[in-house]
Amino acid sequence: MGICGGIAAYRACDLIRELQRKGAKRVIPLMTESATRFISPLTLHSLTREEVHLSEMALDVDGLPQHIALAQQADAFLIMPATTNMLAKLAHGMADNILTTTAIAFTGKPLLIAPAMNTRMWLNPLTQKNVETLISLENITLIPPSSGLLACGETGEGHLASMETVLHALYRATHPERHLFSGKRVLVTAGGTWEPIDPVRVLTNRSSGKMGVAFADELYAMGAEVTLIVTSSVHLPLLNQRPYPVIRVERSAELAEALEGQFERTDWLFMAAAVSDFQVKAAEQKIKRRGQGAFELRLLPTDDILGRLASRKKTHQRIVGFAAESENLLDNAQDKLRRKSLDAIIANDISRTDIGFQSDENEVTVLLAEGSQVTIPRSPKPEVARRVLKLLEQKSTALESEPSPTL
Ligand code: CTP
Repeated sequence: MGICGGIAAYRACDLIRELQRKGAKRVIPLMTESATRFISPLTLHSLTREEVHLSEMALDVDGLPQHIALAQQADAFLIMPATTNMLAKLAHGMADNILTTTAIAFTGKPLLIAPAMNTRMWLNPLTQKNVETLISLENITLIPPSSGLLACGETGEGHLASMETVLHALYRATHPERHLFSGKRVLVTAGGTWEPIDPVRVLTNRSSGKMGVAFADELYAMGAEVTLIVTSSVHLPLLNQRPYPVIRVERSAELAEALEGQFERTDWLFMAAAVSDFQVKAAEQKIKRRGQGAFELRLLPTDDILGRLASRKKTHQRIVGFAAESENLLDNAQDKLRRKSLDAIIANDISRTDIGFQSDENEVTVLLAEGSQVTIPRSPKPEVARRVLKLLEQKSTALESEPSPTL
């Protein structure tokens, strides 16, 4: 991790902690001379327990010049914050400090650059030209700054990207299957719909949306162009800081409408949302207790969104449904796979308390239209998503040349 001299340097400390929490084996800090004026090498050493590299003139590491050894050791190189000066140096291939010498020796592996600077410096055509040069290189990912309050007191573009954005970018750049869904447009739905009863009450279900969001995150890391549609029941932290568009809906009719607008240009649809099968003709005013005992609600069926979309699917499109069942898991899932003409369905047993709704883990069986079944044993939801996606992509590619439009 390379840190340059800007006020956003202090945010490197939090990121280091988060990288460690997420399992980074080592975070090796490199600092420019001016970075040491903003945060101290001792801070970074205390956080990482690593030598903090400060000069390109230091002695060899493991029998190699320091910048060569560092470039060889790391799986990814993140420069955060990157100053205007650093962007200019990198874009021109300069090698005059420990960051630039290491960066120029760091080829064939992901180099991520997260700039932070004053808006006018960021928007200056010279800076933008340097950015263009940098992003034209295959191994470089630029993590664009966001809009926010800047150290100079102005508000505008140039604010260091959020920690969540940087983590997603790093995860994507280092993902072993980062090209698996490249060029694919993918729609994912997540969460339980809300069907209003009156302005206060809703009819909903226990879906937390965690499985669907895990699919969206993994698909993004696998190179897909993701759009996530989530319902009001999804309260996951930092959902608004995802690096892909997140659309919020409430009722199943709104979900259907949002899908309608996107479906034509979609290659894969993952319908993880728990859609209400019934809706209520909502009262305009809050329903009062009115002194009577029982109160009856008339439930009207909703549209089967997935079934309707699948009936219009084009040959290149792949449609994956989800079945959360409390009994006869595989028979019920198989029935839905056929009835809704899906390419695959992902079934999980909600009678188990250790997996499924609300839980961070899941165990699923993937049923494919071509007849095979694969069970993914109990694992954290992102891991389940990763394994399911690898399987689906493999099957899809294998059958692409065959006449059947299904997996
Ligand atoms: N689904 C949908 N529209 C609905 C109900 C469900 O698109 N009105 C989708 C879900 O998002 C899921 C799949 O269909 O991907 C299976 O959902 P499920 O509720 O299990 O299926 P139903 O057809 O509603 O069957 P049942 O309620 O009888 O189990």
